[in-house]
Amino acid sequence: MTDQKPMTVPGIKARKGGTPIVSLTAYDYPTASAIDDLVDFMLVGDSLGMVVHGLPTTQGVTMDMMIMHGQAVMRGAKRALVVVDMPFGSFEESPEMACRNAVRMMKETGCSAVKLEGGQEMAETIRFLTERGIPVLAHVGLMPQKVAMMGGFRTQGRKSEMALKVMADAQAVNDAGAFAMVIEGTIEPLAREITETVAIPTIGIGASPACDGQILVVNDLIGLASEYMPKFVKRYAEASDTIRTAVSAYADEVRARTFPGPEHCFGMPKG
Ligand code: KIV
Repeated sequence: MTDQKPMTVPGIKARKGGTPIVSLTAYDYPTASAIDDLVDFMLVGDSLGMVVHGLPTTQGVTMDMMIMHGQAVMRGAKRALVVVDMPFGSFEESPEMACRNAVRMMKETGCSAVKLEGGQEMAETIRFLTERGIPVLAHVGLMPQKVAMMGGFRTQGRKSEMALKVMADAQAVNDAGAFAMVIEGTIEPLAREITETVAIPTIGIGASPACDGQILVVNDLIGLASEYMPKFVKRYAEASDTIRTAVSAYADEVRARTFPGPEHCFGMPKG
């Protein structure tokens, strides 16, 4: 259990170089309620497209989907900071478009900040949003929304020109005013160098413990996952197995007519 004071954007920013920041994705009310006091922030990630809706990539996720899941998570979050992802197509066109959609996201969900994928090409947008009071969590390295351009989910920064690009992206989003950045799918030396260079916290996912914190997809961690399971994820539980065991016991009882009847819960009706 962590400190019970509600987490804030400046509070997360102040954790640079301090106690590592614990973060997970959350997509619904029961999960948010269960993990609220155990994490520093929850991300309503657009990974929900793949994890919850079974889409092949995150590119089909819409603003309406993000808002609906964001509202559900906000109802379960009493202490952790909630950040909601800007989905593909909602922010790339112009800073003004990003601002309109980020304002809608914050107004309709009540979240504290938005996340958007992109490095140098998104720096102007991040500056535009932060100067207007919209806290931005940046996302560099592997960017799932650009998976088609990147040729699949590959570790970034193995080649030196790619490492230089990820480093320049990290510096750009730092300078543009992001309060923290996710670094996804990079090798440890690069994650370490970025973490030592930038002024804001780095939150790794598949980027090694060298970062200022870590985020994982909650379903991967609890073993409630689809066939795709990143190599770097440690499973702390096997929720799919637990569900299957419970449902198979239930199915056996229904087939054998041995499940408890209403008298079990309420007693027999009188008269
Ligand atoms: O969409 C997502 O869930 C993410 C993270 C896991 C960082 O972007």
